[in-house]
Amino acid sequence: MFTTLINWLDHRAGIRSLLSAMLLEGIPGGARWRYVWGSCLAFVFSIQLITGIMLMTAYSPSASQAWNSVHAIQYKMDFGWLIRGLHHFGSQTMMVLIALHMLQVVIAGAHLPPRELNWWLGIGLLSVTLGLSLTGYLLPWDQKGYWATMVATNIAGTLPEIGEEVRHQAVGGPDYGNYTLTRFYALHVAILPLTLIGMLVAHVAIFRRHGVTSTENKQGLVSNPENEHAKGTEPFWPRQAFYDMLACMVVFGIMLGMVLYGFAHKVTPPPHEDGSEPNLYEKIARYGVEGKGAELDASADRNTANYPARPEWYFLFLFQLLKYFPGDYAIWGTVIIPNGVMMILFLLPLLGFGPVRKLGHFVGIVFLTVLFVMVGLLTLKALDDDQPEGILGGIMKTGDEETRKKEKEKAEKFQHDVHEAEIKAKRACQLAMGGTHVEGGHVLLRNDPYTTGNLLFQGKCGSCHNFSAGKDDKFESWKGGKSASDLGDYASFEWIHELLKNPGKDTHLGLVKLRVLDDDKKPKVDAKGDFILAPAKGMINWRKGIDDAQARWRESEDADVKKKVAQQNDELEVIAKWLADQRHPKDKRNKELAKQGQAAFELGRNKCKNCHVLEGTNGAGEDAPDLTGYGSTEWIRSMIMRPMHGSRYGEKNNMPAFRDQEAPGALKEFRDLNPTVTDKQIQFLTDVERELIIRWMIRDYRPVFGGAPIR
Ligand code: HEC
Ligand code: HEC
Repeated sequence: MFTTLINWLDHRAGIRSLLSAMLLEGIPGGARWRYVWGSCLAFVFSIQLITGIMLMTAYSPSASQAWNSVHAIQYKMDFGWLIRGLHHFGSQTMMVLIALHMLQVVIAGAHLPPRELNWWLGIGLLSVTLGLSLTGYLLPWDQKGYWATMVATNIAGTLPEIGEEVRHQAVGGPDYGNYTLTRFYALHVAILPLTLIGMLVAHVAIFRRHGVTSTENKQGLVSNPENEHAKGTEPFWPRQAFYDMLACMVVFGIMLGMVLYGFAHKVTPPPHEDGSEPNLYEKIARYGVEGKGAELDASADRNTANYPARPEWYFLFLFQLLKYFPGDYAIWGTVIIPNGVMMILFLLPLLGFGPVRKLGHFVGIVFLTVLFVMVGLLTLKALDDDQPEGILGGIMKTGDEETRKKEKEKAEKFQHDVHEAEIKAKRACQLAMGGTHVEGGHVLLRNDPYTTGNLLFQGKCGSCHNFSAGKDDKFESWKGGKSASDLGDYASFEWIHELLKNPGKDTHLGLVKLRVLDDDKKPKVDAKGDFILAPAKGMINWRKGIDDAQARWRESEDADVKKKVAQQNDELEVIAKWLADQRHPKDKRNKELAKQGQAAFELGRNKCKNCHVLEGTNGAGEDAPDLTGYGSTEWIRSMIMRPMHGSRYGEKNNMPAFRDQEAPGALKEFRDLNPTVTDKQIQFLTDVERELIIRWMIRDYRPVFGGAPIR
């Protein structure tokens, strides 16, 4: 039955001769393990083709959607992590295999005549493969690829005479952006792969014309016909085929191992709507959420300052080379040395003619070995430069104390930027699990309280205020504040309770200085026209009064009076609880607590009412903040926008007002309302930035889009 089928196929399509041409090719000198590299390369390339075509079905090559689509492949598409992971590590594997293949070829002397044409094709293949890596790096449109490619195209722009034109062509216009992606995509999925396939077919065909380069077959079968049936030709099948297959499997195993080890950021997927756990299939199909597969950095954002850009590891040596040729000498690093090396590689086979062949072979081996060692050293040095203490125990660090110190600072700064970029990358991947933005993935991060809100707080508020991390927080506390309260736990029960017990603490009012008012309740100025400041004493003096009263009560003989100390402490605790409840909307507040809190707030001995207004309480409200809705987003918002308002700190206020100055007339209106406000007291903060800071403060980490209200 089977034989009949084969016979039929053979008659119609001639598969027997096809198969035997493929499998029974003779190998002079017999099968060898060292012949496997070429097959491995072809194998990995075919994986790249297959996974690449699969990726094309889900990838969207536009600046706004590229990152979103890669994120979906990595985290949401079934087995997307596996396909992308294999493609990613496939490209790196090809680099390693090409190096091994080249080394093997030169050691065997297979680059020498009559095989020089194939060596040249090989160099062409190497260049095309490098081109594929370079173009592929940009496609996810993440920060890593974006900035590395920007560096690469800028380097191209520095070439003399033709530089600008080369850059213009590579970038697809005057500016780096969406068209660059289009261009790189066309190169990556069509032009370069088709070129590579064409060259590869020629490479294999020419290879088979001369056969492997063993001692028995140095000159190639064709040029040396009497060699044709030289001793020991062994058919490709089964031994060499088996070696090749086994090597391919090992290579594949290593690639798969890298994918399964996982270099991506872990994310938490949204829970199933019905609350059920993912089943086994779903778990494996979306293994990307566990960090399996290739890394995905945050979406490209051209507004990023100081992104720590580095090329892929196999281009690091070039990056390092450039460092040694600053300024006008740059052309040595960009053009002369790299092209010189390519030229020498190209000319190597010419040393194989005539009597110099033996020497030529030797020179080839030495040159390639030295080249690889140099590349390795440059790569290591590039890694070394980025580590403050260096790699390998710092043996590569050279130079005098001064330069070393400078280099160390640079590396520390770099590592700091890397750390920050990593936090953002992880956050970006997580945020996009809840949906992406049509304008691009970067919009999520720009409007993310957790990352951007934190940085804004540090930049805008952090010179005065501290921000302590709570026990559930994953970020580090901010400790740069010098002249105001710690807002990390602002208006929580604990914060308020502490304020009532110990208002002079540095986390509360201890660092705060307020303006001193004259008899007309206007801020006093000194001879130079600066405002006179004095420590905030309202609450501190109040507490002194409470302490004095409690001391007297403690000393009293009357047991009932003595009990008042404990009673008052309980009352203050209830007040703190009740004030902490004011941040919630009215209908969500605790009614029982409201009754008790209000009563304690109004009690003569606690005195709150003497100074503070709180909705429903008829207080004096002269010089102290109105505590209505205390700690709510509205309360904080008005503190940020108009801290000099009578319901906040009034004329005593010493905190600047943060306003969006973009709306026409906005500033004039504000000035008319607050005639004593100076220019220094008004700082620029957009509405979205303000909401980001508020969400950061109240730990509501949902992204802000277009100033949508909080809660
Ligand atoms: C120049 C220093 C300074 C900066 C910058 C500053 N503040 Fe203040 N902040 C103060 C001072 C001083 C007070 C005390 C009350 C006052 O002076 O009005 C205060 C009070 C507050 C309060 C009331 C709680 C308290 O401690 O009394 C909040 C809330 C607040 N600031 C939030 C912010 C936010 C948010 C930012 C950033 C957008 C910010 N502040 C920037 C100095 C500053
Ligand atoms: C003598 C007047 C006075 C009394 C009495 C008083 N306060 Fe205050 N309170 C102030 C002043 C003034 C401030 C502004 C900061 C300062 O100068 O200490 C303040 C600040 C506060 C703040 C911080 C507001 C912010 O910026 O976040 C809270 C909360 C507060 N008081 C609660 C109370 C409670 C509760 C009571 C009663 C148990 C009370 N105060 C009694 C005058 C008073």
